[in-house]
Amino acid sequence: MTDTYVIAGNPVAHSRSPEIHAMFAAQTGEDLVYERLLCPLDAFEATLRGFAAAGGRGCNITVPFKFEAHALAARLSPRARLAGACNVLRFDTEAQGGWFGDNSDGIGLRRDIERVRSLGGQRLLLLGAGGASAGVLGSLIEGRPAEITLANRSVDKAQALVAGHAALAAEQGVRLRASALDGCGEGFDILVNGTSASLGGAAVPVAASALRPGALALDMMYGPAAQGFLDWATAHGFEGRDGLGMLVEQAAEAFYIWRGVRPDSAPVLAALRASIAQKAAATP
Ligand code: ATR
Repeated sequence: MTDTYVIAGNPVAHSRSPEIHAMFAAQTGEDLVYERLLCPLDAFEATLRGFAAAGGRGCNITVPFKFEAHALAARLSPRARLAGACNVLRFDTEAQGGWFGDNSDGIGLRRDIERVRSLGGQRLLLLGAGGASAGVLGSLIEGRPAEITLANRSVDKAQALVAGHAALAAEQGVRLRASALDGCGEGFDILVNGTSASLGGAAVPVAASALRPGALALDMMYGPAAQGFLDWATAHGFEGRDGLGMLVEQAAEAFYIWRGVRPDSAPVLAALRASIAQKAAATP
C-alpha cells in the first residue's frame, strides 16, 4: 500500500508542499503520496487522528497548528522541544514510542542561507519574536554566527525568546541579545525577517542602515507576500532572498525524518522557481 502524508493546516489550499514532495518521491523512488488536509480550527486533533486511523503515516503542520502538534507528540526531538512547536509529525506506533514530533524549519532556513553565505562568524539580525522566529532561532545559533540580535516590536517577547535560548547560545559561543526594532544596531551581514509584517503589506520594519552594503536579506515569506521585501533589498544594494528555499529545505528534512532518505533539494528548488515564474508570466 502506498504511504500517505499530508500538510495539515488552515488554510492549506495554496501550500506548495504537495508539489515538492511529489518531486522528492519521483527523484528517490519512494512509494508515497502527499496531499492537503484542511483541519477545522477547533478540530485539529480529531482530524489528524482520523487521518492516522485511515493509514496516514505522518504530516507536516502549518499555521495555526504548530503548537498544538507539539502538544500531541509523545516524543520530541531536542530542536522541537526548544522551538516549542512542531512542523513534522511521524505516526510511529505505540510500540515504537508513539507519535514523534520534530521541527525542520530552522535547519531548513540554515541550509538555505548556507547555500549562499556561510553563517560562521557573521553578525545576524533576526526580526520578529513570534512562532516563525521561535522555530528557527535554535538552528541559527547552531550555525555559530558571531552574533544574533533578535529585534522585535514588543521587546518583552524578544527577551523571552532570548532567555529560552541563552544556554544554547553560550554553549555555541554565540553572542545573543534582544532589542527593539529601533536602535537594533548597524552593519549586520545577514538579516532574516521572521515578522508577519510583509503579509499585511507593511514596510520592512527596520532601517536599511542596520545592514552593511551587500548583506544578505532574507524574508521567510515567499510569493507575492515577499515581493515588497525583495524590492526593498534590491533598492538598498542587498542580496534579497525569499523563503522558497527554506520551504524546500524544510521539506527535504521532513522527507528524511519520515523515509530515512535524503532527497536532492537543489533541482527541486530550481523547478519550483521555474514553475512559479512561468505561472506569473502567464497571468495577465
Ligand atoms: P508567526 O507565527 O508567523 O511568527 P506571530 O506569532 O503572530 O506569527 O508573530 C508575528 C511577529 O511579527 C511578531 O514578532 C510581531 O511583532 P509583535 O510581537 O510586536 O506583535 C511581528 N509583526 C507583525 N506585524 C508587524 C509590523 N507591522 N511591524 C513589525 N513587526 C510586526
